[in-house]
Amino acid sequence: MTASDTAGFETPGSPDTSGHYALGHPAIGPRPLARTRSFTRRGGRMPRTHQAAWDRHAEQVVLDVPLAHGDTSTVVDPAYRLDVEQVFGRRAPLVVEVGSGAGDALVVAATARPDWDFLAFEVWRPGIGHALAKMEQATGGPLSNVRVVEADAQVALRTLLEPGSAHEVWTFFPDPWPKARHHKRRIVSRDFADTVLRLLAPDGVWRLATDWQDYAEAMRQVLDAHEGLRLVSTDRAPLRPVTRFERRGVEEGRSITDLAYARA
Ligand SMILES: C[S@@+](CC[C@H](N)C(=O)[O-])C[C@H]1O[C@@H](n2cnc3c(N)ncnc32)[C@H](O)[C@@H]1O
Repeated sequence: MTASDTAGFETPGSPDTSGHYALGHPAIGPRPLARTRSFTRRGGRMPRTHQAAWDRHAEQVVLDVPLAHGDTSTVVDPAYRLDVEQVFGRRAPLVVEVGSGAGDALVVAATARPDWDFLAFEVWRPGIGHALAKMEQATGGPLSNVRVVEADAQVALRTLLEPGSAHEVWTFFPDPWPKARHHKRRIVSRDFADTVLRLLAPDGVWRLATDWQDYAEAMRQVLDAHEGLRLVSTDRAPLRPVTRFERRGVEEGRSITDLAYARA
């Protein structure tokens, strides 16, 4: 195993080892401390303006969700259920964004659709700070229809939300993990498709986008073969703005694939 393979695991000795699920849990899978993760970056310095936005708005926007292995963990307590209606103070169509990055799509879409609620999952705190700064820039403060969970979506979405609660699930430009030996870290897999399917409302849609052709093909292979899903569109997702990942992909000669799946 190489050093970069090891980076995908929460190994004994990391701060995440204080938890009670070291041997696994029926809801979050076997040995979550040793799971293969779809991300590496979590921390890092925030520019002053992003930190200031974090200090001003994180308390309102970033949900205080209990974590299974203590404060530094990315694993949400599998026993905890989020009351979405209570969080947003209303019942509205819910968009769940997996890996919101710097919040480009989140802020544009939530501003355009004040009648929808947006729940984003992101493990990279500087990205959340950036999203908060963008909200402030766009509207002078946090958006009342946006909340963020700072945790691993791949694990949290198995248990945190009620089945059928998402109107849309977005996975835009997931980390591509281009090396073959890292493909196991790609978030779009059969297992994650099961998780998303459980979450989708009867008329719900899972929207994906990537600038990596082989990842797009792998997505098609796994999701087209899933008996619970059917491809409904390859058009650009209606609310998806051009982000720096799309721009960079195009500049480097890659084409963008959009996919939308509904319940079969
Ligand atoms: C390549 S970026 C794309 C960000 C954004 N969707 C965009 O299009 O600009 C992927 C993001 O997903 C986040 N991420 C990866 N795996 C995740 C997981 N399991 N749970 C939550 N966030 C995750 C990463 O931290 C990173 O910020």
